[in-house]
Amino acid sequence: MTRGCFVTGTDTGVGKTVVAAALAICLRQRGLNVGVMKPVETGVGERGSTLSDAEYLRAAGGAVDPVDAIGPYRLAAPLAPLAAARQAGTVIEMDRILTAYERLAAGHTLMVVEGIGGVLVPIGHHFNVRDLIARLGLPTVVVGRATLGGVNHALLTVEALRQRRIAILGIVLNHAAIPSEPSWKRPDAIDTRQGDSTVELVKELSGVPVLGPLRHEPMLAQARDAGLGKVAAEDAVRTLADLIMKGVP
Ligand SMILES: Nc1ncnc2c1ncn2[C@@H]1O[C@H](COP(=O)(O)OP(=O)(O)OP(=O)(O)O)[C@@H](O)[C@H]1O
Ligand SMILES: [Mg+2]
Repeated sequence: MTRGCFVTGTDTGVGKTVVAAALAICLRQRGLNVGVMKPVETGVGERGSTLSDAEYLRAAGGAVDPVDAIGPYRLAAPLAPLAAARQAGTVIEMDRILTAYERLAAGHTLMVVEGIGGVLVPIGHHFNVRDLIARLGLPTVVVGRATLGGVNHALLTVEALRQRRIAILGIVLNHAAIPSEPSWKRPDAIDTRQGDSTVELVKELSGVPVLGPLRHEPMLAQARDAGLGKVAAEDAVRTLADLIMKGVP
């Protein structure tokens, strides 16, 4: 059975792609044959020259597999998958995702799969991200925000995964870019207190390993490869890579 992890998040824009790409790089540096996947992506082509998540992960994974294999459903509308599929007049099928996953997994020792949005995001008529994780049988890495509001989102996500007995390797709290603040502002004393207390409370209450917080890495916005290299070398990512290599306890 192929090992690996499903990188989910507490929300959209929390840093799933950055964490998944950094994990792929870190695991490849350890000599492992890593495959990457973004089963469903929306808003493809909407972001001008920015790489889609599938392309971003493909580059981090060594650009081995074709982008259509890494991303079997790449939809244009920047909406939740169920809505984007409806707009495109299509239906996202679980079986097509599972077949694409099996094909990729057959060529790799470890798979790093990025989810979409959070765990209850609807994908097809009768399934959501959590159902997909359960079918893939991969343990999860949960990416959350190391900011005020991060405690509730992290604990809700853990509860939703536990309800379905889905393994959680760890939560990584991240200082992702803030969309309303395109240029990074140095955190003030209140931001720092809020971030620290979020991390402390998630550690105290979640019952799973809590890694990070991942530092905000300004280089990511300027030179992707150099920025990802720095994130891949962070303790949080290295510890997650150890946990992925060990597999579910
Ligand atoms: N630690 C970090 N330092 C600096 N920028 C970051 C960090 N983590 C994420 N970002 C930036 O924040 C933005 C959102 O991150 P990312 O695309 O990884 O989120 P996501 O959860 O994958 O979003 P989506 O739901 O769209 O897939 C990106 O511009 C990314 O480069
Ligand atoms: Mg992403």
